[in-house]
Formats: sequence, C-alpha cells, structure tokens
Amino acid sequence: MLEWNDNRPTEPNQPRVHPQQPAEVPDPHAVGDGELREPATARESGHEHDVVTGLEQVEMGADRVQVDDKAIINCRADVNQLVPFKYQWAWEKYLSGCANHWMPQEINMSADIAMWQDPDALSDDERLILKRGFGFFASSESLVANNLVLGIYKHLTNPECRQYLLRQAFEEAVHGHCFQYIVESLNLDEGEIFNMYRELPSVHNKAAWAMQYTQSLNDPDFTTGTPENDQKFLRDLIAFYVIFEGIFFYAGFVQFLSFGRRNKMTGTAEQVQYIMRDESMHLNFGIDVINQIKIENPHLWTASFQEEARAMIDEAMHLEIAYAHDSMPRGVLGMNASMFDEYMKFIANRRCSQIGLAELYPGAENPFPWMSEMMDLKKEKNFFETRVIEYQTGGALSWD
Ligand SMILES: [Fe+2]
Ligand SMILES: [Fe+2]
Repeated sequence: MLEWNDNRPTEPNQPRVHPQQPAEVPDPHAVGDGELREPATARESGHEHDVVTGLEQVEMGADRVQVDDKAIINCRADVNQLVPFKYQWAWEKYLSGCANHWMPQEINMSADIAMWQDPDALSDDERLILKRGFGFFASSESLVANNLVLGIYKHLTNPECRQYLLRQAFEEAVHGHCFQYIVESLNLDEGEIFNMYRELPSVHNKAAWAMQYTQSLNDPDFTTGTPENDQKFLRDLIAFYVIFEGIFFYAGFVQFLSFGRRNKMTGTAEQVQYIMRDESMHLNFGIDVINQIKIENPHLWTASFQEEARAMIDEAMHLEIAYAHDSMPRGVLGMNASMFDEYMKFIANRRCSQIGLAELYPGAENPFPWMSEMMDLKKEKNFFETRVIEYQTGGALSWD
C-alpha cells in the first residue's frame, strides 16, 4: 500500500526538468513580428513531396531511412521503420511508460467501499468532490484518447513518437478502466458519472473548450503542410497535452490525493496517483513534441501565435478555477476553493515556461507544496513493491 503521510518533508517547488527534454528550445521571442511567415524552405512547407501517413503503397526498392530524413511533422521518410532513432527522448518515454505498467484491479477497493457505504465516514462535501472528480475524469480519458488516435496520430509523422502514442493510448484506456472500476466498486450510478460532462456546466465547459481544437483536425481532408494547418495542429497539441492533461487534471489530482493523505478513499487515491504519474509523462512528451516542432519549424512560432497560446492557457486556467469552486463549495480536507485560484495560476505559469512562453501570472505560488513530492517520478520507483499481480516476463506459453 502507498503511505499517505501529512508529515512528509516537503521539497521546494523547483521546476522539474525532464532529462529527455530536447536540449535546445528556440528563443520564444526570436520570431517577433506577429505575422505568420511563409516557410523558408520547401521542406518546411511539406510541399516538396506529399507528407506520409504510413498507409501508402509499399515501394519496392526504395532507399533505407536515414536519421536526417526524419521529422516530427511533414515527414516524407517511411514512417514504418522504427529505427534509426532520431528522437531518443520519445523512445525513453515509451520504455518508461512500459516500466510503469499498472492495472486498476490490482488495487484493493475494500476500504473505499466500506467508507463509501458508511453514512458517517464521509461528509456530503467530500462525496461531492469525489463524484464530480469521477465524472470529470471518466469522460476526459475518452476525449483525450480520441484526440490522440483520431486527431494527432496521423499527423505526427515520426515512428518513435508514434510508438509512444500507442503506449499512451493504452494508458488512456487503463485510466478509463480505472473510473469504470471505481464506479462499479462503489456501486455508483454510472449514468450520473459518465454523462456528467453533458449535464454539469463546470465539467461540460472544460470538455467543450477542448473539443474545438480537435474538431479543427476532424475534416477528413485536413493535412499538415501549410503554415495555417501546421498551426492548427500545434494548437491541438497545446490544448490537449499542455492544457487538458497539464491543467484540467490538476484540481482533481489535488482533491483526490488530499483524501489519500488523510487516509480516506485510499484505493481511489492510489489509482489517481498512478494516473498522475502517467499523465506527467504524457505532458512531458507533449512538451517535447511542441518544442521539437518549434526547432524544426520556427516560422510557425510567431509573436501572435505565442499570444494566442497564452490566451488559451489563461482561458483554460479560469475554467479550471471554476471547476474547483463548483466541486468544492465549502472548505474541506484542509483545502478551500480560493487556494485553487493561486494554484492554477502557479500551474499555468509552469506550462507557459515549459513551452517557452512568458509567464501569465508572475509571482504565483504553490499552496500545495506536497504535490511536488507526489509528482517526483524518482521516488515512485517503489510504487509497485506491494503489487498483487506479477506480470509474466518469461516462461513458457501454453497453447491449449
Ligand atoms: Fe489519462
Ligand atoms: Fe493522458
């Protein structure tokens, strides 16, 4: 079992620099005229040859792939050849995701079930936080997964990045499974939880905000390869990786983990902690992809685009604050909604700086310093010492 201890030493909230992030991040102010420039070369535009998806006819006798042929978007090299790697950070994240494998049913929910069924064990306010959190996450995992496989995958023309997307897609399935498992374990009304994004405005507004960006890729004729469309793709990456997975999940993470820290709903909180570890990797992958696209396509990162991205983060941050207030009308578990006003600004600043944007709210501080420790991937190496299911890594298969 994980231990939930309020008295753990907390660490200063240093920005976490992931070791696999690209070393070079272009100066966000290097392109500053505010206009969308035409690409400098035909290669940047993608017009020199058609962009590949991997579904083309197999060309007999074609040349082998060279590392320098590879690109994150608008690549013309064969995307069906995983190696040679160009983006080692993508492969490392794929390996890390596999090493973090977990399944919801490994986590014992009996204490949560007893607590949920005991009318005195949880207050009405605590039940409200939990149910709204379940409702938000239950549909969000599906929205993120659909954007991944139906929006992003086709246009991310690099096989090692696609390898990570395939792993991420499975992890989103596990996260959806997690909320199905919780709903089933606690005998909740599944329609109330899974349809909440179409019934409760504070949950609906976050989902509806994100959908406009995936819908811009939904035209079957959409392709990258023009500056306008490449920026649409970038907006979708920012909306889903930096904002949906990097901002919209965070009030919920704090709330769920606050239960665990007080030894309440510990099975639920443990699953959310595993989700947060996965999501932290998804976020870091998205940041790496965005920064690599900037390196390879500096003409896209105009001053006006940067301002637009900052406005997206600002708008989303306010939606997240509204969700925090709606799910927590009164202070509970040592938190109150106004603490999230500050926390979401702190998180929004982090997200801005991670993709090279100027911070929106200078000086915002983290009222939940313990979250930094929860997100420290290094200490999570010990997570699975108590795992109840051992995954088979060798031995004979039986073919009965
Ligand atoms: Fe997820
Ligand atoms: Fe995710």
